[in-house]
Amino acid sequence: MEIAKDAYELRQHLAGLDGDTIAFVPTMGNLHEGHLSLVRRGFAMAEHVVVSIFVNPLQFSPSDDLDAYPRTLERDLQLLAAEGVTLVFTPSEEGLYPEGLQVHTKVTVPGLTNVLCGRKRVGHFDGVTTVVCKLLNLVSPDIALFGEKDLQQLLVIRKMVADLGMPVQIESVSTQRDARGLALSSRNSYLSSEALDIAPALYRNLVAVSDAVQGGARDYAGLCSAVIQRLNKLGFIGEYCEARRCSDLLPAQEEDTDVAIFCAAVLEGTRLIDNIVIEHY
Ligand code: PAJ
Repeated sequence: MEIAKDAYELRQHLAGLDGDTIAFVPTMGNLHEGHLSLVRRGFAMAEHVVVSIFVNPLQFSPSDDLDAYPRTLERDLQLLAAEGVTLVFTPSEEGLYPEGLQVHTKVTVPGLTNVLCGRKRVGHFDGVTTVVCKLLNLVSPDIALFGEKDLQQLLVIRKMVADLGMPVQIESVSTQRDARGLALSSRNSYLSSEALDIAPALYRNLVAVSDAVQGGARDYAGLCSAVIQRLNKLGFIGEYCEARRCSDLLPAQEEDTDVAIFCAAVLEGTRLIDNIVIEHY
């Protein structure tokens, strides 16, 4: 497995791949089975898998957990080597943003980014799209893979790629969960064992809403506000629970058939997000 620490080394290693197909998995490291599921899907679709590890400061606001974000590079590299990954790109902040964050060109996707996670985390998605656009340009893969765990992020990236005519195929991979349904996340490592016992309630509640909708219920507002109330009783601070259309993230209407329930809630100071796409109804 090769490691490229800057764009120059990346170009050199990519040149050695001789036009073979490349699947690309951008990450912020602290890898878990969720990330590895993207890597494995990448290998099912392309000859080589390239992974980037970069904790992107541009997508964190000053009150976010940039400094605390878990960095476990040695372990990450071992996991990726065991998967047979071809190349890992580990750029530095100076390498990607040599003139600083403030003066760097930004990529903004309108509309989809000012709701749900974008409402509280102002500028977050600009940071995501800017770094993903830059990484896609540097790596120039055939396919790039993203998790449905971050469904809004996936939809925003799909729109960016479509709007800008970027020559890459975006593939999504379903959310990997632990045995109790908690979506795997690097931020789960912040949780105490008591909180880890409570945390699966987030997804359980989303499944309950999905079951109710499949059973004929359409009172999305009532169903979602009941989720927040139940989560708050358990010790979460519910941020949002909303039913929205996957096509444009507008609030779901009774007649819509591409609806997902999106939820964010804070537990022990850690912000957890999850979603469920409602199937067959
Ligand atoms: P990160 O949180 O490290 O996630 C990297 C990729 O792994 C994303 O596509 C995310 O959706 C996916 N992922 C995370 N947890 C998952 C799970 N439990 N199941 C399936 N996929 C999962 O998302 C980011 O980094 C950043 O915003 C990034 C796109 C790298 C830009 O900086």
